[in-house]
Amino acid sequence: MDFINLVFTGRMKMINYFKNILNNATQFSKKLIKFFSIFKNRLFAKYVVHTEKAFSFKTIFYRHKENVSDKWVNYFDIYDECFSNFIANRPKVLEIGVQNGGSLQILNKYLKNATFYGVDIDPKVLNLNLGTNIHIYNFDITDEQAINQYFNNIEFNIIIDDGSHICSDIIQTFKLFFSKLKPGGVFLIEDLHTSYWQSHGGSYLGADSAIEFFKKFADLLNFYHIKDHRFEENLSSDDRYLFQWLRSIYFYDSVVVIRKLSKARKTFYERVMVGKLDPVVPVINLAKQEGWYHS
Ligand SMILES: C[S@@+](CC[C@H](N)C(=O)[O-])C[C@H]1O[C@@H](n2cnc3c(N)ncnc32)[C@H](O)[C@@H]1O
Repeated sequence: MDFINLVFTGRMKMINYFKNILNNATQFSKKLIKFFSIFKNRLFAKYVVHTEKAFSFKTIFYRHKENVSDKWVNYFDIYDECFSNFIANRPKVLEIGVQNGGSLQILNKYLKNATFYGVDIDPKVLNLNLGTNIHIYNFDITDEQAINQYFNNIEFNIIIDDGSHICSDIIQTFKLFFSKLKPGGVFLIEDLHTSYWQSHGGSYLGADSAIEFFKKFADLLNFYHIKDHRFEENLSSDDRYLFQWLRSIYFYDSVVVIRKLSKARKTFYERVMVGKLDPVVPVINLAKQEGWYHS
């Protein structure tokens, strides 16, 4: 009898021992599931971003079946070049010129995590229902009072000007909104070919044309290298803000893209030399004397 009891208790102990192991394993896997569920959304968002990256703006544009949008075909690559870096982020995007809302819908498919702000002078845009992350406003984009009313505390990562395409509006809009572009942001202006059309206040080399306004940015970028005192004397306060923040200006057919620095610069960029050998022209000693040799 004692022997049977001994065997029985021994078996029970073993069963309990394995039960405990099983319990602990279940508890552990529950904790593991909980741990991963906390990060699930973030991991999933990353996965979505990676798969969506496979779709270029052009692909998304041609698959689009909802509200209409018309673009010139060379814009697709420009959008990819300028905006793809923002896909994984949560950019704030301002589009000037909403019309039927098609471009906002397409951009919403491309920049999945973005918040959009669309402005149009046509009050009918207020009837558009494009999604909870797409906010539509009805005012003239050059109306400073409305800008202060609606966008007082907002800065944008991306600004797209597809509004009136009238030269004076384009210039004024840029002046009003460049300071509302976040550091590292992109300002893209479409349909700039109107700069050459009298119907839009433009003409070839015309003083009031928008493209002439932007051509001057090449000089502003090189501000610290211009020795001619006339250049500095003619600078406005807008110009001074611009050259502190201007990273680059790209011209494409009908499009100009202005990028903002991530930090304002106060002086010229440093020059630097690396390498240990100068077998053709002896330049290392000079660089050392002038303090730009990187040892
Ligand atoms: C070329 S359409 C925009 C097209 C749209 N982005 C798309 O691709 O589907 C230009 C729009 O700009 C609007 N617009 C014109 N002048 C404006 C202004 N001063 N302020 C705001 N919107 C303006 C027009 O009402 C029109 O709907």
